[in-house]
Amino acid sequence: MGQGGDLILLDPKNWIQLNEVSSTNDYLKENRVISSVVTSKIQTRGRGRKNHLWNSESCENLYFSGLVELDSIPSLPLVSLFCGSAVLKTCIQQSQEKSLSLKWPNDIYKENKKIAGLLLEMEIYNEKVHLIVGVGVNFFFEKIPSDLPSAGTLFLKPLSELEKKIFVLQLIENLNKNFLILTDKNLSQNEISWIEKNSYLKDKKIYFKTDEKYMLGEFLGYDENGFLKLKTQDSIQVLMDTDPYFRIEDE
Ligand code: BTN
Repeated sequence: MGQGGDLILLDPKNWIQLNEVSSTNDYLKENRVISSVVTSKIQTRGRGRKNHLWNSESCENLYFSGLVELDSIPSLPLVSLFCGSAVLKTCIQQSQEKSLSLKWPNDIYKENKKIAGLLLEMEIYNEKVHLIVGVGVNFFFEKIPSDLPSAGTLFLKPLSELEKKIFVLQLIENLNKNFLILTDKNLSQNEISWIEKNSYLKDKKIYFKTDEKYMLGEFLGYDENGFLKLKTQDSIQVLMDTDPYFRIEDE
């Protein structure tokens, strides 16, 4: 990110805890207090990426959003990777699970099941860059909902209220750390290397489409903008997004 402006991080003192809300991301759009964090026991209209709904009925799970002000418009794919890695680190620290990974662009997987997702929304508001970081974590499902066959659960038993609070405080700290790292090129490179080591796509082959052509590539890593690098038979391809086509071989 550039120089000169303000980077206003999340402040755990500005944490609002609700029982019910349509969506914690929408709550922050309506109540734009920079640095605030909102969690809710349930959401009545939780949103996922690509206009999907996010299952938000169980009060065992985490529905979290935070609003930060950035000093300039960053590369959204990089911010997305770094927010994903902050969530992954929190999940590892709090669960001691060894089989967690970050699936590009920013889903968290436990083995081959999705246990968390992020919805990032960046807007210019009163000439400032506002970023809303929405995080949903499946802490515990007694039974995986039948409409979510590829979902998993991070913990093997429900968390106490205290354990949930500790998780949220750790998440705030890890997100703030990564926003600061984004402003430093060397630290960013170290973070990208950590993300590559903990990437779900490592050692996987991927079918994708670019310039109207379907191709098969191997995971190489991420570039400084957070774009995915894939090695094909005779080239290196760089992808910004999973659109228009992206499929992992054998899945
Ligand atoms: C995805 O994987 O599709 C992203 C899911 C993001 C869900 C979280 S839950 C808290 C926040 N509020 C929302 O409405 N969505 C995000």
